[in-house]
Amino acid sequence: MRINIGVLPGDGIGPEVTAQAIKALKAIAGEYNHTFNFKSAAVGAIAIDETGSPLPKATLDLCKASDAILFGAIGHPKYDNDPSAKIRPEQGLLALRKALGLYANIRPVKAYEALVHKSPLKEEIITGADMLIFRELTGGIYFGEKQLSEDGNMASDLCIYTRSEIERITHLAFKAAEGRRKKVTLVDKANVLESSRLWRKIVTEIAAEYKNVTLDFLFVDNAAMQMILNPNQFDIILTENMFGDIISDEASVIGGSIGLLSSASIGGKTGLFEPIHGSFPQATGEGIANPLASILSAAMLLSHFGLTEEAKRIEQAVDKSLELDITTSDINSNGSPVSTEQVGNFIEDFIYFSEDTNLNFKNIHLGQSTII
Ligand code: IPM
Ligand code: MG
Repeated sequence: MRINIGVLPGDGIGPEVTAQAIKALKAIAGEYNHTFNFKSAAVGAIAIDETGSPLPKATLDLCKASDAILFGAIGHPKYDNDPSAKIRPEQGLLALRKALGLYANIRPVKAYEALVHKSPLKEEIITGADMLIFRELTGGIYFGEKQLSEDGNMASDLCIYTRSEIERITHLAFKAAEGRRKKVTLVDKANVLESSRLWRKIVTEIAAEYKNVTLDFLFVDNAAMQMILNPNQFDIILTENMFGDIISDEASVIGGSIGLLSSASIGGKTGLFEPIHGSFPQATGEGIANPLASILSAAMLLSHFGLTEEAKRIEQAVDKSLELDITTSDINSNGSPVSTEQVGNFIEDFIYFSEDTNLNFKNIHLGQSTII
């Protein structure tokens, strides 16, 4: 298969982790005879520095011409600490999601066996947790009208949803549930918000079309508590934009580190695949960022094109790196964390050599293999 991949490494640790995902994809292309073409462009703070815009036209054009986008991270402290900044890096990502029609953001969360002991949550609570969060991505309070009064003393953000925006992601969520444990939990705040009541009404209607899927509801405040009290109750979580943003960061604790959570944003012709973590500015250039979320996002990219076996190979490589504890400091247990690049090298080697059962992967990664 031929896939043209637009690469938007972005800010902070984005370029470092994205480089490892590209290595994994190149190894997959080599092993399975695919042609993946990579073309990069600037987005975020770095694009503001270069062009004045967080999403320059050339970047958007590249994205529109690509089959898929591999995205790194976005954000810079100089904007976080300046609420009056009119142009912000994050606007680049939001504009891109909107321009490409990426209305569904899918975030898988699972408790990796090798890492259950690393979570601040009790092992017996998180073991076996495995859920998919479907976060609506191009509507709600993120995109509703924003206002700041002239005197600067009053501001508002409108949370607005239409029937069609709710319907299209709901169908995706129910279809995904059919292939899993057949349960959808709608997370909302229907006891307070009109927009949430619209979600409940429409989702309930649609649920009737999926007879074998159970639908239940949780208010977002309760869901936030249930997430860490009993995450095993969740299969598919369906929710609007802002609640999904918050609840998915919370859910990352179950996986052991936010450095493991990947995501796919789909809906339009071109899908976008990105780790859910941010740009982690303090770690920029240090080689300590965990590249696994980016690498797993590359696996989601492959799945999106139906390359299931190839995606599985990457997932196996990640499982193996966790099992052997060839990991960065956020999840390492053996007291000798390795660098971002070394994790990437291990994944790459596993993809090339995993079928040779006589190889000792730990040695390969340490550069002691006779093969490399
Ligand atoms: C995410 C991020 C973004 C969001 C930011 C960077 C705009 O937090 O993808 O979860 O809020 O959607
Ligand atoms: Mg977020």
